[in-house]
Amino acid sequence: MVVFDAYGTLWNIQGIEEAVAAVLGRTRSASVLELWRKKQLEYAWLRTLMDRYEPFREVTRDALSYTLKVSGLQVTEEEQTHLLDAWNHPAPFPDASWLLPRLSSQQRIILSNGDAAMLEAGLRHSGLQNQLDGILSVDLAGRYKPHPAAYRLVLEQLGAAREDVVFVSSNGWDIAGASHFGFRTIWVNRGRGPIEELSVKPWKTVSSLSDIASIGEM
Ligand code: LAC
Repeated sequence: MVVFDAYGTLWNIQGIEEAVAAVLGRTRSASVLELWRKKQLEYAWLRTLMDRYEPFREVTRDALSYTLKVSGLQVTEEEQTHLLDAWNHPAPFPDASWLLPRLSSQQRIILSNGDAAMLEAGLRHSGLQNQLDGILSVDLAGRYKPHPAAYRLVLEQLGAAREDVVFVSSNGWDIAGASHFGFRTIWVNRGRGPIEELSVKPWKTVSSLSDIASIGEM
């Protein structure tokens, strides 16, 4: 079974910058999106630490609200909803559309911090719905990755054995969590950066999803 992270791994978050640029202008869009994503992840992790789970759309809304305030930007409620909705319309990375049909002999699953509604909308929009065999939202665990309860969903919901799971993510923190949990991990190092210093190494490191097609022993 191959389990994929969604945002940043199968879906290109940079596509969301178009929506940000349409509302806030091109000069601010990259920095606003960068802070928005950073706060989105931070709030998800903090809520998990505090045991105060909220679905990812709410976390993403709060992160946007903070980002706009700290950047001194004012937008209407309608524009905020438009920005949030961009997370429901991600574009797939070309290498995701290329790889998934080539893994059709395996079960292909998404495990994402996104809530079920975001993931279902994202799947429809990205055109990958026929190339995946299931989606799991951490919503069912009420804890965000990299908490072990989030990865455990794969075992609990799909009846998989830990050693049969290959977990694929471009997010270093996600690779650390999945490796600690005991999955074999493939880090898609899209940014050509160093591995996170979290005491684990991925099983394999690739520079794009396409490289996974030639890994034989999965
Ligand atoms: C995911 C994001 C948070 O889990 O990368 O899809």
